[in-house]
Amino acid sequence: MKFFIDSANIEHIKEIASWGILSGVTTNPSLVAKEGKDFKQVVQQICELVNGPISAEVISTDVDSMIKEGKEVSTWHKNVVVKLPTIPNGLAACKALTSQNIKVNMTLCFSVNQALLCASVGATYVSPFVGRLDDINQDGMSLIRDLAQVFSIQKIKTEILSASIRHPAHVMDSAKAGAHVATIPYPIFKQMIQHPLTDKGLEKFLADWNEVMLKMPSHSK
Ligand code: E4P
Repeated sequence: MKFFIDSANIEHIKEIASWGILSGVTTNPSLVAKEGKDFKQVVQQICELVNGPISAEVISTDVDSMIKEGKEVSTWHKNVVVKLPTIPNGLAACKALTSQNIKVNMTLCFSVNQALLCASVGATYVSPFVGRLDDINQDGMSLIRDLAQVFSIQKIKTEILSASIRHPAHVMDSAKAGAHVATIPYPIFKQMIQHPLTDKGLEKFLADWNEVMLKMPSHSK
């Protein structure tokens, strides 16, 4: 499973990219608005930091404007993936854009049927929102499991991008369920790498080393 970061914060993206584990980035209008910066500039800066698919979402909701906006954002950088909402007009815009070899990530997906429709219009990614389903007392992860099963049976090439990840267990469960990608918020990456036994173990290794080795006449680090 590939790791994307779900963020429009340049410092956060830079930090996690420095770990060498990032394959891409997803943004959405809320995340971009939170940064209060020019959309195009933010997307282009992200493209310089991460060499992989960078999702940039359109804000229009009628087909012609979605296509126009999608085409425009796709010119910002070769790695831009146009993000469209999973609504009827989004499907039509997805079909038009993918027929021109523009990659599309269909977002706000909450059911297998929606995902099947997205796949049928050539979406490169479909983004099921796990956390928002959990929020309404539905099992978000079972959507990922169902999608992995259905896409495999149907030999669908569209990648399942597990989104709306709220905690580290969502990441592990997405991998177990067969998601191709998980897009993960910055604080969850920090939680994923942290383990008290790693910190404790490292502290002890270094203390033991320093206790003996540094006292040797010809010590080397
Ligand atoms: C996905 O691409 C979305 O940006 C994101 O995962 C939404 O997550 P949220 O439900 O935490 O806002």
